[in-house]
Formats: sequence, C-alpha cells, structure tokens
Amino acid sequence: MEVIVAKNAEELGSIVANVIVQLLGRMERPTLGLATGSSPQPVYDELVRRHRAGAISFANTTACLLDEYLDLPPEHPQLYRTFIRRVFVDQIDLPLEQLLGPDVSGNQPETCSARYEAALKGAGGVDLQVLGIGSDGHIGFNEPSSSLASRTRVKTLTRQTREDNARFFGGEVDAVPKHAVTQGIGTILEARHLVLVARGAGKAKAIAQAIEGPLTAMVPASALQLHPHATVVIDPEAASGLQLLDYYEQAFRGKPPWEPI
Ligand code: F6R
Repeated sequence: MEVIVAKNAEELGSIVANVIVQLLGRMERPTLGLATGSSPQPVYDELVRRHRAGAISFANTTACLLDEYLDLPPEHPQLYRTFIRRVFVDQIDLPLEQLLGPDVSGNQPETCSARYEAALKGAGGVDLQVLGIGSDGHIGFNEPSSSLASRTRVKTLTRQTREDNARFFGGEVDAVPKHAVTQGIGTILEARHLVLVARGAGKAKAIAQAIEGPLTAMVPASALQLHPHATVVIDPEAASGLQLLDYYEQAFRGKPPWEPI
C-alpha cells in the first residue's frame, strides 16, 4: 500500500486527479468508481477544472457509484446519484447513460444488488475506485463486522455513520436513512486500483487502524491491505495517528520517476 500525505486539500485533489487523468489517457473506455460524501470533493473540483480548461474528456468513461441510500423519495437531493450529478457529473461531458449505480427505484433491494453486480461486470470491472472512509472505518457502506468477502447488498447504517452524515440532512440524525445498498468489500477489492482519500482529524483513528492495524472485519477499510494496488491519499490531520509517517513521506518524496502511483 502506498500512503501519500498531501499538504492540503488542493494538493490531495491534484495528486488524485493526476492519477485519474493518466488512466483516461491510457485506456480507451475507462471505468471509474466514484465515492460520494465530502472527502473526494477536491478531486472532483480539480477534474472539473481540468475539463473546463479543455485538458480532459470523460465522453468514453463509465462511472460507477459505490453505494446508494434506501428509503429516500426519488426527488431527494441526497440520493447519491443526484449528489454525484450535482457535485461532479453534470459539470463534465460524461453521458448520463454512462453513470451506473444501484437502481433503488423499484423498491426491490435484493434484485437491485444482483443487477448492479451484473452491471459492474458488464462494464468490464472498475479500473480505478475512489473511496472515502467512515469515522468507524467503513468503506462504501460496509460497516464494522461486514464480511471481507461480501458482495453488493443491503446494509444497515451504524448510529455513528448516521450521526456523521446528519450534516447532509439539515443536522437531523433521524432524517438520515437507516439502510443503503452498497458494493461489498469483495466487490470493491475487484477494482484494479483503489484510491482512498481522507481529510481531517476525525478520520485519523480509522486511517491508522486501516493502514497499520490488523486486517479485521471490525475495520472494513483494513481490507485495502489485501489489495495489490491500493493508494491512500490523506491530509496531515488524517495522517496524524500513523506510526510510519516519516517512512511514507520519505518514500513518496523520493519516488523514482519510473514508479507511477
Ligand atoms: C460514500 C461512501 C462512504 C463515504 C464515507 C466518508 O459513497 O461510500 O464510505 O466515503 O462515509 O464520508 P465523507 O467523505 O463525507 O466523510
């Protein structure tokens, strides 16, 4: 696993955007996995900026969501499909039919999970998956105790996650859905490159446990330890609990040019 400590949100955004731009340049029809929430926002902002400057096109890219809330009305602004359109997809040239996600509209979560697994396979799998991390160590909505081999399915959100996400629902915990459809940890691990981003001291403990703690279902993000190509890009506050901080910084700043992220 490569751990990169960016100076600030802008540098974080630019480091991850560079990796995505390289992918877009290398592949004819890349598939990009998108996380929602606040952590990847600097990445999406930077990609939108480069698109507007004419430097990149997403016309041949397929984008896949990690997860989707259940129990929200179709017009709700916090549905993840709506959220990602607002903060990213509607500002670039990615055709909407190339934005995939769990289709929760039919109220049949189990069928929708299986259909989404099939859609991911149909897209040729995910080339690069952007991930955030919950303060309880979740990735996607795989909460602590999720099977490390899990596939896309319905999960119940922890109280902690609902409290953390209340800021998107007017500060009301009770307004945050109790359930979501999420790619499983086994599904996420099939992406060819995982790029996890985190910002702020509130993520420091989860980051330290995920990177330097034991592999355990109690910290779902520790599953990144199993992946042959996992990159973690974090700010100094999120990195503050890491024991090997000096080593990670030394490795990144002294990275030879032939070794890509
Ligand atoms: C969102 C997702 C979640 C978030 C995590 C962090 O699609 O899968 O795992 O990445 O809850 O959320 P933020 O970035 O808002 O702190």
